[in-house]
Amino acid sequence: MKTLLQISTSLFSSGGQSTQLADTFVAEWQRTHPDGRVIRRDLSVNPVPHLDAERLTAFMTPAGQRSAQQQSIVAYSDALIDELRQTDVVVIGLPLYNFGIPSSLQAYFDHLARAGVTFKYTASGPIGFLTGKRVLVFATRGGKYAGTEKDSATTQVRAFLSLLGMNDLEFIYAEGLNMDTETREQGLRAARQQSLELAQSLTNI
Ligand SMILES: Cc1cc2nc3c(=O)[nH]c(=O)nc-3n(C[C@H](O)[C@H](O)[C@H](O)COP(=O)(O)O)c2cc1C
Repeated sequence: MKTLLQISTSLFSSGGQSTQLADTFVAEWQRTHPDGRVIRRDLSVNPVPHLDAERLTAFMTPAGQRSAQQQSIVAYSDALIDELRQTDVVVIGLPLYNFGIPSSLQAYFDHLARAGVTFKYTASGPIGFLTGKRVLVFATRGGKYAGTEKDSATTQVRAFLSLLGMNDLEFIYAEGLNMDTETREQGLRAARQQSLELAQSLTNI
């Protein structure tokens, strides 16, 4: 049985355009994978705390020396990592906010990046441990930036997931959503169609 993890990061939760686009994909994936399991993590409904010195110190403290509070901080991060570890398909809704990824997604990423747990440094560069996953990113934005240097959000997502061992990524863009109605409708229509076709093409995962 395959498992899909849907990570929603829109401020507007299920009402966000990135969430709804990802929902189109997930609904079709469920239709074509009736035995598949879907886990939903909505970072607006259940935000991950910002990384601070207390949390980072808990991660860095050897297991046997952690206080009860530190153990609970690490257990929370471990649970997020375990959820991802058991996933075959990762679906991320990625709105562009002020030229960056949503801060909720940054906080989530900050709880996944654990040296020795999700990746390790070697002389020839880092090696990620969360391998064998297909990642689909549904990127929505008001303007049009795909393929330009202003699209640093997707570059960051790619680099970060690669650190953890996830290199099989695909980006589905819906752009120009805050331009005129025609541009928005056209962008959404094309992205929805692409999402459906993508879900139908994933026959072996
Ligand atoms: C706080 C905020 C900041 C935004 N910043 C940008 C931006 O820098 N560039 C852009 O093209 N669109 C920007 N937008 C527009 C969103 O990217 C666009 O509406 C997107 O579809 C939102 O996705 P969502 O509905 O899933 O949250 C911004 C929207 C909000 C709410």
